[in-house]
Amino acid sequence: MKREPVLDVRGLRKRYGEIVALDGVDLVVPAGQTLVVMGPSGCGKSTLVRCLNRLLEPDAGEIWFEGRNLLSLTPPELAAARRRIGFVFQHSNLVARLSARQNIALGLIAAGRPVEEALEAAETALDRVGLAAKADRRPSQLSGGEQQRVGIARALALSPALMLWDEPTAALDPLLVREVLDVMEELVRDGERTMVVVTHELSFALRAADRVILMDSGQIVEDGSPAKVFTAPTSLLGERYRRLLESLPGLPAEGGGRKGKGIRAAGANAGTVPRPAPRPPMAQKSGGGRPVRA
Ligand SMILES: Nc1ncnc2c1ncn2[C@@H]1O[C@H](COP(=O)(O)OP(=O)(O)OP(=O)(O)O)[C@@H](O)[C@H]1O
Ligand SMILES: [Mg+2]
Repeated sequence: MKREPVLDVRGLRKRYGEIVALDGVDLVVPAGQTLVVMGPSGCGKSTLVRCLNRLLEPDAGEIWFEGRNLLSLTPPELAAARRRIGFVFQHSNLVARLSARQNIALGLIAAGRPVEEALEAAETALDRVGLAAKADRRPSQLSGGEQQRVGIARALALSPALMLWDEPTAALDPLLVREVLDVMEELVRDGERTMVVVTHELSFALRAADRVILMDSGQIVEDGSPAKVFTAPTSLLGERYRRLLESLPGLPAEGGGRKGKGIRAAGANAGTVPRPAPRPPMAQKSGGGRPVRA
């Protein structure tokens, strides 16, 4: 029997006044898939992932998660669905006066787990991200990368079916990026959950993604395996990424994906490279041209 997709997004639209952030997004994500979302600054990536757990309210469309439309749930039903959706954003927003263990346990206790059990589950989650030894430290006693790993453990502790990531390494010192990417790649390898990852980290997309979508002006303009999107794109934006990757050292022409070979090796050796050229002024948000790590 065919498995139901974890996520089925239909005709999603979101405007901020005159600005169209999502312009009719359709997206079906099967269980276990690691989907990487890329695209220039302002193209709607954050708006998309924030709509997916209704941190933002879309204007129109449907978001089917595990067979139920999130937009038609009652508040208690939505709260229950949200516990199945973990998210990790740029900043981990840990509670400063609580230890790493307590920060993680907090969410579990709020979800109704007994305190002892929550603390134990927090310990297990910290172990998953390699921080069991630092469970008693407060956020100020941890590095930025470690704080972000606590944030990941906090999301994992709830055993989500779907994990949403919005540039989890973007706010980190470049020296700390790798440790967080390693944890993320490890989670992809264990294959237990569906992941939607917004990132500018080409190395992650090349090594870990089953599928990449490129967004431009609120629409999906490329959708396929990393090999397809980065070596045989059909859009202008895709072509810019293809050229960008071609300019990196050691890029094999074909291959790709988590289980594939070839293209996945490319990002591992590449240095910091510029983002694809900014879009024309009409569609562009300020602040383009940040570096892309690869
Ligand atoms: N709260 C808001 N009010 C008004 N406009 C907004 C708001 N949030 C986002 N936008 C606009 O909506 C569009 C999509 O923004 P979004 O944050 O989703 O882009 P993004 O792809 O995540 O960009 P980045 O790579 O810079 O994070 C942009 O034009 C942005 O300026
Ligand atoms: Mg964003």
